[in-house]
Amino acid sequence: MEKKTKKVTRRSLLKSVLSFSLYSIIPIQLKAFSFFGEGNFSIFDTNKNNAMNFKLPELKYAYNALEPHFDARTMEIHHSKHHAGYTNNLNNLIKGTEFEDKSIEKILISKDLPAGIRNNGGGFYNHCLFWKILSPNKVDPSERLLSMINSSFGSFDKMKEDFSKAAATRFGSGWAWLCYDGNGLSICSTPNQDNPLMEGACGGKPILCLDVWEHAYYLNYQNRRPDYILAFWNLVDWSVVENNIED
Ligand SMILES: [Fe+2]
Repeated sequence: MEKKTKKVTRRSLLKSVLSFSLYSIIPIQLKAFSFFGEGNFSIFDTNKNNAMNFKLPELKYAYNALEPHFDARTMEIHHSKHHAGYTNNLNNLIKGTEFEDKSIEKILISKDLPAGIRNNGGGFYNHCLFWKILSPNKVDPSERLLSMINSSFGSFDKMKEDFSKAAATRFGSGWAWLCYDGNGLSICSTPNQDNPLMEGACGGKPILCLDVWEHAYYLNYQNRRPDYILAFWNLVDWSVVENNIED
């Protein structure tokens, strides 16, 4: 009996050490990861089909797969017209410039970025991230990600509340963001096609985003942006969001 008690205690101790490693050490290791380091890097490298051209990513789901939350017609126009437009404009604007052979992240963090490249580069990057974190099959956050969310916001519901508020109160067109700054998570919003990577923006590495341009929801929700935001939470694949921290 005494031996069993001792064994359980050792196991508990080991579990505690592993938990500490998982929830405390990993964020520290991530802090050492330099998102703004030298060299070309991109979470969307596969979307560049050669040294010069960014490529519109194919969606991993059908246009109608996100219904009833995001309708098929909006998804089709959003991806094949709006996102394709930003991508083509970006490729045309960087042709023959210093930005031609850079990853999209390298372009976006550049100082004094010309307005056209800022708008269309943001439009390219932001929508790539947006499509990536959406899924017809919602995936809940892991224990590890929940621990990070709880540390930064107090609870998962409080994080959703803060993010939804950022999305709802962004005046005009823009984006809401969940970012990782090396220590924890933060929420902000940006106007137009700006994103946290850009000079003068809110900072951090974007891991989750929501498009609040009217083109993202008007056909189905008209002026009811809060309903669109509510629907969004049914489509988030949190395993992808977590992977974005380390990608
Ligand atoms: Fe959009």
